[in-house]
Amino acid sequence: MRTGRGKAATGLAAVVLSTAVAGGVVAATQSSDEAALQPARGAASQNIEHRIDSLIRRMTLEDKLNQIQLLSDGQMKERPGEASKPVGGVFSEVDPVLINKYQRQAMESRLGIPILFAYDTIHGFRTIFPIPLGAASSFDPKVASEDHRIGARESAAVGLKQIYSPMVDVSHEPRWGRIAEAGGEDPYLNSVFAAARVKAAQGDNYADKDKVVTSVKHYAAYGQPEAGRDYNTTDMSERRLHDLYLPPFKAAVDAGSDTAMCSFNSINGEGGCASKRLETDLLKKQWGFDGFIESDYTAVAELRTCPPKTPDEGPCGHGIAEDGPGAAAAALNAGTDSEMVSELIRGNGKMLLAQKRISQSRIDDAVRRILRIKFRAGLFEKPYVPVDPVAAEAAQLQPDAVAAARKAAGRSMVLLKNEGGTLPLSKTKTTAVIGPLGDDGHAMLGPWWGRGRDEDAVTVFAGIKAQNPQTTFTEACKMAHTEPPQATPADECASDAGFDAAVTAAKAADQVVLALGESREQSGEAASRSEIDLPGRQEELLRRIKTEAPGKPIAVVLFNGRPLTLEGVVDDAPAILEAWFPGVQAGHAVADVVFGDVNPGGKLPVSFPRRVGQVPIYYNHEPTGRPCDKNQKYNSRHRDIPFCDPQFPFGFGLSYSKFEVSNLRLSSKSVSRNGRVRAHVDVRHVSGPEGDEVVQLYIRDPVASLSQPVRRLRGFERVTLKPGQSDTVTFTLDKSDFGFHDNAGKLVVEQGQIEVYAGNSSEGKLMQTLMVR
Ligand code: BGC
Repeated sequence: MRTGRGKAATGLAAVVLSTAVAGGVVAATQSSDEAALQPARGAASQNIEHRIDSLIRRMTLEDKLNQIQLLSDGQMKERPGEASKPVGGVFSEVDPVLINKYQRQAMESRLGIPILFAYDTIHGFRTIFPIPLGAASSFDPKVASEDHRIGARESAAVGLKQIYSPMVDVSHEPRWGRIAEAGGEDPYLNSVFAAARVKAAQGDNYADKDKVVTSVKHYAAYGQPEAGRDYNTTDMSERRLHDLYLPPFKAAVDAGSDTAMCSFNSINGEGGCASKRLETDLLKKQWGFDGFIESDYTAVAELRTCPPKTPDEGPCGHGIAEDGPGAAAAALNAGTDSEMVSELIRGNGKMLLAQKRISQSRIDDAVRRILRIKFRAGLFEKPYVPVDPVAAEAAQLQPDAVAAARKAAGRSMVLLKNEGGTLPLSKTKTTAVIGPLGDDGHAMLGPWWGRGRDEDAVTVFAGIKAQNPQTTFTEACKMAHTEPPQATPADECASDAGFDAAVTAAKAADQVVLALGESREQSGEAASRSEIDLPGRQEELLRRIKTEAPGKPIAVVLFNGRPLTLEGVVDDAPAILEAWFPGVQAGHAVADVVFGDVNPGGKLPVSFPRRVGQVPIYYNHEPTGRPCDKNQKYNSRHRDIPFCDPQFPFGFGLSYSKFEVSNLRLSSKSVSRNGRVRAHVDVRHVSGPEGDEVVQLYIRDPVASLSQPVRRLRGFERVTLKPGQSDTVTFTLDKSDFGFHDNAGKLVVEQGQIEVYAGNSSEGKLMQTLMVR
């Protein structure tokens, strides 16, 4: 018997907020707004606060405004003098020599305040792991921990001390390219992964030489842009915001994330970086976050109306401030502490203060928060990275990191279809690797490749050939690898000129691995798509191989950063393996799974629609008075689709083995509103090789004052079982599970029945009821 990874592991139920500080973990109770604004207690913290007091006393207004400024590597190269002002932070500079040089200028300046160097280590720095959507498919938080443990180590080795991760934007929008960067459509899964990433990157003390402070982003609700277009408006009810989008941020903060990034989007009319309600009232006061919030890239400038009144050329947008000074005041007053790239707070701070549009105490609070993190990061004591470039390089791509990336990739793959046991293929039969992504290391790294290099990546062909020398490769068509607006999806696999050769190769081999999907440029930031099918003529390629090399075992391996519409692929391919963008060890991990050394056990962290018109389609939706019925008219359905359901539901994934999940039972049939109840579920290996099953626990509140989702994931455990073995998984449920938020953002726990479901997907049928008293 074990305790499943419930809220206890993520801190979702915690009434005490834990904040990692240099020298230990200190508890801060959530008693009052005032208390929550105070820094975490403890001797080390007090010492830090005294040192901050003494620094702040000596800082001029100009010094303070410089601390609030965060510049890019490019801006620093244009204006190297910024280092000796010094600015508060620099991001995207990864040359340790330059980092040390800037740092020396900062340390030798009047006050000796170090610069915080940051980077987007999202799924690896040099050793690239699977994209976060892939990692979430593992339903194994250790995959995320390993990714961030190694990402932190490699980042810190070049002198970085902050990473702009985890990205925790829950999303029901497969058109949105950035769905690749977080854990999919479920708040609970995202929360567990967020906490795991924070703890692994920061460790007990992010002053340690291989640790960094995390920045949870993009606060808030950036994952739900209208039409799935990046940076677009977000508008939603308070209760959805609190139940679906905010929990992973809370989990990251509870796990100790000491910095956060506010988002580009407007939310319910407020700018993500100008929301006092979200930044100060909720994050800082209610959740007790005593670190700092940096804006996303020029997000402060984007608050002002277009065209900007001031003559500078900077960006503009939301129209919630009339000009640059107005945007600066809106952001700072809301709680944004650090401004990335645009320079409106620094540029206008003096004037705004004189006009009393901002206060000295708010400036001091922002500076205090920034300095606090620098102290906790140990930067005042150890400002320099103690390596030369050769040693920094040697710290990258270490064998243990590469092995972890391979394991993570294998655990992230999801077997979507396996008709007649097509997979695993045989290592001793001839194999044709075919397709535009079959020998493409560049694509394997995905949309946030950090410092990953194309040549580090093991391609599918290389990986398969390493395990089966009788392997050929035929590209069939090309992925364009160009950034929009130059390329349209039609530029990917646009020509069928190579299809005859592909068919010939398929015919000549005993078995076929067809490597299809998106280019990495088609997913990630600013890469929304209106159609989410396989780009270009890839489906046609599959159909030709299927019809012209009939009966051949064909395994389609998919590389993509979002759910795809796969109706045609599902019809034509006997086997489909969803590999996402698996990272630097892609080819080896694919070979491990395709040849059966690794039994696939991943599950989908996001629903796959059949057609793009179904979007948004997600498992945790509310019920309707006219549920979809494909045989009736007056109900909630699309006339042109004879289906109600997605192609593949949340939590779904096959294995080479069969398992049985059974015997859901509760420790009690009723529970008080403040009580706890345990749910036990048995899982048994039925047939096939050793493998993994993910036992999943969902709840539903069938009668509530606000209509509740038909299912909500509240626990999961990935269990490895040998033939004949069985196990029991235990989950604990409490008010953080059966409660929900009202439209004032308040957690309410109502009396009444709760349905508890268990199974191996969001469609699990086992059910027990529980009475909340
Ligand atoms: C992205 C952030 C990223 C920042 C710095 C922005 O465009 O939205 O996720 O951290 O750039 O690179």
